[in-house]
Amino acid sequence: MTTALITGATAGLGAAFAERLARDGHHLVLLARDTERLHERATDLHDRHGVEVSVLTADLATEKGIVALEERVGDRDRPVDLLVNNAGFGNKGRFLDVPMADELTMLRVHCEAVLRSTAAAAEAMRERGRGGVVNVASVAAFLPRGTYGASKAWITQFTQGVAADLAGSGVRLMALCPGFVRTEFHQRAGMDAGNVPGWMWLDAGRVVDAALADLARGRTLSVPDPRYKALAGLMRLAPRGALARASTGTGRRYGPK
Ligand SMILES: NC(=O)c1ccc[n+]([C@@H]2O[C@H](COP(=O)([O-])OP(=O)(O)OC[C@H]3O[C@@H](n4cnc5c(N)ncnc54)[C@H](OP(=O)(O)O)[C@@H]3O)[C@@H](O)[C@H]2O)c1
Repeated sequence: MTTALITGATAGLGAAFAERLARDGHHLVLLARDTERLHERATDLHDRHGVEVSVLTADLATEKGIVALEERVGDRDRPVDLLVNNAGFGNKGRFLDVPMADELTMLRVHCEAVLRSTAAAAEAMRERGRGGVVNVASVAAFLPRGTYGASKAWITQFTQGVAADLAGSGVRLMALCPGFVRTEFHQRAGMDAGNVPGWMWLDAGRVVDAALADLARGRTLSVPDPRYKALAGLMRLAPRGALARASTGTGRRYGPK
């Protein structure tokens, strides 16, 4: 039996990863900030799928939280075979509307926590000659879209670069770039995503199925769903100014939190 650690496992994509991996018979470590919700989810997954599920309460915006994640994924006595760095969030507002402290928190959760946990996990995995890391980015990685898009572009570039550095070691790394997914993400950020057309919304379970299939194929980049594969191709070709203008209005109508 292998063990997967998923950050941000209490909701949305992280919960979908936990569900699918438990169904496949993997033991799990679930990480998030809300301890009560973590325990509820762990008990439910254990009862329905018969796998061992432990919880790790950690805030990845803090040094203590990042150290706890590093220590757990680097623990040689309790190997983690698959790390899914999924925890993330959006900020409410365009640049200069968002407090600098919130921008820095985003860089810490999306970049620093991913950098340090990938290093700790990959080192232990390389010693064992096997393992996988999925770092959840976004199609926003291909768009000029403030700190969010820039942090997701960093995740994507970083992950594909490390995948090349570790080629042949038995450690697989993949950046996952989904489009709009129905989760708690937009509500938590106080975003009214009502102007996002219905066809653009993806189901979290399907995104996870596509991601794990791409990881098994040895892909270093996964863009689930043909609609978004086509859009990602267009984004790479389109003029950056036009892309930035289209991006700045999309999914950014803000309602009360
Ligand atoms: N939804 C989309 O349209 C979409 C599209 C592309 C990419 N993504 C990316 O997918 C990932 C998951 O997002 P989601 O849509 O599933 O969001 P979500 O439903 O809001 O879930 C976010 C999860 O992250 C955890 N989390 C947030 N901040 C954290 C912190 N500081 N430390 C530890 N855990 C934290 C939350 O739990 P606690 O609150 O208990 O900590 C929760 O489990 C994110 O990286 C997001 O950027 C989402």
